[in-house]
Amino acid sequence: MTKKIAWRCPSNIALVKYWGKKGNQIPCNASISMTLQNAYTDTSLILTDKKSVGIELEYFFEGKQNAAFQQRILQYLEQNKSSFPVLDQYAMRIESENSFPHSTGIASSASAFGALALVLLSASDYTGDDFLERASFLSRLGSGSASRSMYPGYALWGALDEVVGSSDEFAIPVTDIHPDFSDMRDSILIVDDEPKSVSSSVGHGLMKGHSYANVRFLDANRHTLEMKGILETGDLGGFVSLIEREALALHAMMMTSSDYYLLMKPDTVAIIDAIMSFRRETGVPVGFTLDAGPNVHVIYPGKVENEVNSFLKSLQIDLKGVINDKIGTGPIKLA
Ligand code: DP6
Repeated sequence: MTKKIAWRCPSNIALVKYWGKKGNQIPCNASISMTLQNAYTDTSLILTDKKSVGIELEYFFEGKQNAAFQQRILQYLEQNKSSFPVLDQYAMRIESENSFPHSTGIASSASAFGALALVLLSASDYTGDDFLERASFLSRLGSGSASRSMYPGYALWGALDEVVGSSDEFAIPVTDIHPDFSDMRDSILIVDDEPKSVSSSVGHGLMKGHSYANVRFLDANRHTLEMKGILETGDLGGFVSLIEREALALHAMMMTSSDYYLLMKPDTVAIIDAIMSFRRETGVPVGFTLDAGPNVHVIYPGKVENEVNSFLKSLQIDLKGVINDKIGTGPIKLA
């Protein structure tokens, strides 16, 4: 017998950043993100009869067997075996592909672990009303940012007294979004497509004992609440300044950790500078954010698309590419 289940799970861009974790993938602060539409992972799970005891897994990434990914997934499956009864019942072949090129700074672990949790949960015949919340919980155990990829629009991860239902263990959707934020764009400017010199897990680790850690975690919790309020009430100016402050705070943490490092490149700074000047001169509500890498996410509402596109075309910077993305509708079951 053969059975196939497939899900598409999008990536997300953090507006307020998760940076620092403890215990079993528990964040040190709350974060809030926008789900993307065009950057996603498609994952198929093909179940066949088992031939031996224990987990039987073959993993293919973009058509090829990938030992490094297979190892990370096996470790995840071993650690979370009790959540996925399907592992005891079938042999599994997993086929995964990304819609975006590898190493472009798009959080591939978010969409990859998101899609993996979704196929495994579907295959385990989990049909509770809290399916997406459960998928958020399980994907978080693979990669923290994956927890925020389960919902359309915006998601909040991390327990905050002020937000009913919020949790460190899974993300929740942020609803009642003001029309100003219903059609957001993210043009991702690829400054450098080389693999990152310092992985996010090492970066999270460096927050342990960081001199600024406690202040950072308090700030981020406050910023998450502030961002939630902005998304609900509508304040594009406040939005732009908050995402930029958050992006720079994330990189400031890297630059001031005991093993300090710098992921911005000269062109990253040149783009940031150009965005700030353009906004000052024109009043167009456009801002930037950064992940743990040198590439710049240019964030703006659809209504200023033409102005921002002409600005981006006028940039005298030799980019490795541009990915045009926008606010997304969440995961889709493909088969
Ligand atoms: C800078 O989710 O990649 O993108 O939990 O170790 O997999 P792990 O980390 P990961 O960290 C993402 C960090 C970030 C900010 C964010 O997405 O909030």
